Amino acid sequence: MEIKRVGVIGAGQMGAGIAQVCASIGKVVTLCDIKQEFVDSGIASIRKNLQRNVSKDRISQNQMDDTLGNVRTSLENENLSNCDIVIEAIIEDVDIKKSLFSNLGEICEKRTILASNTSSIPIGILAEASGRPGKVVGMHFMNPVPVMKLVEVIRAKSTSDDTFDATFKLAEELHKVPVLVNDFPGFVSNRILLPMLNEAMFCVMEGVAEPEAIDTVMRLGMSHPMGPLTLADFIGLDTCLAIMKVLHKDLNDDKYRPCPLLEEMVKNGKLGKKSGAGFYNY
Ligand SMILES: NC(=O)c1ccc[n+]([C@@H]2O[C@H](COP(=O)([O-])OP(=O)(O)OC[C@H]3O[C@@H](n4cnc5c(N)ncnc54)[C@H](O)[C@@H]3O)[C@@H](O)[C@H]2O)c1
Repeated sequence: MEIKRVGVIGAGQMGAGIAQVCASIGKVVTLCDIKQEFVDSGIASIRKNLQRNVSKDRISQNQMDDTLGNVRTSLENENLSNCDIVIEAIIEDVDIKKSLFSNLGEICEKRTILASNTSSIPIGILAEASGRPGKVVGMHFMNPVPVMKLVEVIRAKSTSDDTFDATFKLAEELHKVPVLVNDFPGFVSNRILLPMLNEAMFCVMEGVAEPEAIDTVMRLGMSHPMGPLTLADFIGLDTCLAIMKVLHKDLNDDKYRPCPLLEEMVKNGKLGKKSGAGFYNY
């Protein structure tokens, strides 16, 4: 099955990036969100990224124009009904995602693949909600999408061979490296990464060291390209908390208990880079 038309729901940092990479290889993309201002800010971030690439001679002005020309926007999920694949990148909330998958299962053509970019929620739950479990798959991009090579392609028990193969092939077409991962909470990436970020937050909370010191230890001592607290701010502290909650509940192990400092920061609107403040100020 060839994928030509792509729907992306959620025009935040991930959705905008996914729309950009799909449009840049000639897919016809419709980018959806719940408010015009969110769609506009998604398009603005795509434009800014492309403009940077033009000014660094990585792409031509024509390539930028073609990419932008391939992206349409919408506030209505109904406009995605004839897409070959819809990639969901909305907030990390299981109930909201379930209701979206149920809606997409009703409005999309039977052949449409429904993919989720969820960081942690088991794909099987979304597959069941969709009413078309064979057509549901995880397509977990990394942030920032245009730069990062990895895509975890998550195969639920119900995912059909055709759905999996088409999604894997799309990731390759996007010049990414897809990796097959089975359907467990947090998959591989966030099952391993998030407990480390959470532990760095416990170090701040308990006064083991200042955020800058913790990040320096991990960058220079462990050769991580970015310290864990900088990375958490970049991912979004709300997203980090949502992932820890899924790991804690679904794996039923207290070793995944979200750091209370993380809970408090999210409660106070400190969501990291996107809100202007987190472990650092932006
Ligand atoms: N931030 C990361 O580093 C990262 C990495 C990989 C995967 N993810 C996952 O990608 C998803 C999106 O994360 P993000 O960082 O882009 O979040 P974000 O907060 O930047 O964007 C989420 C967008 O979804 C929109 N939205 C919310 N409910 C919606 C609905 N019902 N219909 C349409 N749009 C809706 C919001 O308006 C917002 O624009 C989450 O599932 C997250 O776990 C995030």
